[in-house]
Amino acid sequence: MTIEPTSPRRRAGAAPTDVDARLREHVDRLGEQHPPIELDSVDYTVQDAALLDARFGGVLDYMARVELEVDRNVLELLTLLPDPPEVDRHFYADVWQPQEIRHGIILDTLQTEIGRAPAVTDTDSVGVKLKVLGGLAHLGSFQDVCRMLYYLTGMSTERSAVLAYNALHSGLLDLGEDAVARTVVAPIRRQEPGHFAFYQLSARGLWAQLAPWQQWMVRRMRTISYGPVGVNNDEQHADFGEVVDALGLRDGIEEFAAEVTRVERELLWAREDGLPVPAYVVDAFRRAVELADERAA
Ligand SMILES: [Fe+2]
Ligand SMILES: [Fe+2]
Repeated sequence: MTIEPTSPRRRAGAAPTDVDARLREHVDRLGEQHPPIELDSVDYTVQDAALLDARFGGVLDYMARVELEVDRNVLELLTLLPDPPEVDRHFYADVWQPQEIRHGIILDTLQTEIGRAPAVTDTDSVGVKLKVLGGLAHLGSFQDVCRMLYYLTGMSTERSAVLAYNALHSGLLDLGEDAVARTVVAPIRRQEPGHFAFYQLSARGLWAQLAPWQQWMVRRMRTISYGPVGVNNDEQHADFGEVVDALGLRDGIEEFAAEVTRVERELLWAREDGLPVPAYVVDAFRRAVELADERAA
C-alpha cells in the first residue's frame, strides 16, 4: 500500500478552512456558555438513599468512572494524535476535560453521599494497541485515520451519555429524587450535546477529506475495535450491561445502538442499504447484557 501525502487540512500549521472556523466558534461558545458546573450549586439531598442505591447505584458508579477517566482519555489522545490541530487541543484542554472532570466529581460525591464507595478509576494507563497506533500516526496520512477513529468514538460516547442521562433523569424523578435530578443530572446532561456537536462537525469535515484507502481502513478498524462507552475489559462490558438494564434500555437495545451510531452509519456505511445499525455495534450492546446475565447467574 502506498502512503499518499493526503489531506493536509487541519493539521498543525495548515491553512484554516470553513470547518476550522466553525469549530473554533463552536468551542469558544461552549467555553463561554458552559463553564464547569459550580460545586456549590449542587444539592445532594436525597429522600431514600437505600432505594436510590438499589436502583441506580451502579449507574452512578459507572458514569462517575467514565467521566473521571477523561484524564486517561487525554493521555490516549496525545499518544494517538501526537500533532493535533489547534482547535482539537483547544476543545479537549479548555472545554471538554474541565467540564467532564467536574461531572465525574459530582457523580462520585453523590454516590458516596448515599453510602457507596467512590469509583475505582484508571486515569493513567495507555494500552499497547494505542501506543502502536500512535507510533504509526507519526505518518501524517495515518494520523488522519486515527483522528477519524477518535471523532467516531467521541460521537458514540457523547450520544450514549446523553441517552443515559435522559433515562437516569426520568428514573430519579420517578423515585421522587427531585433535588439530584435537578442539580446533578440536569446540568450535566445539558453539557453533553455540545461535545457531540464538536465531534460530529469534525467527523463530517474529515471524512470528506479522506482518501478511499483511509476510509477503508477506518471501516476495518472500527469493525474490529468498537466498544460501548467506558468498556475496556469483560468486567466493564458486563457493568455496561447492568447499566443498560438499570436504565430500562434492554428492550430497546437496538434502537439505543442505532441512535448512538446514527452519524457513523451514515458516513461509513451509507452504501450498505437496509442495515439500520452496524452489526459490530449491535453485537457489542447485546454482548453487554449477556455478560451481565452470566455474571448475575
Ligand atoms: Fe460528561
Ligand atoms: Fe461529554
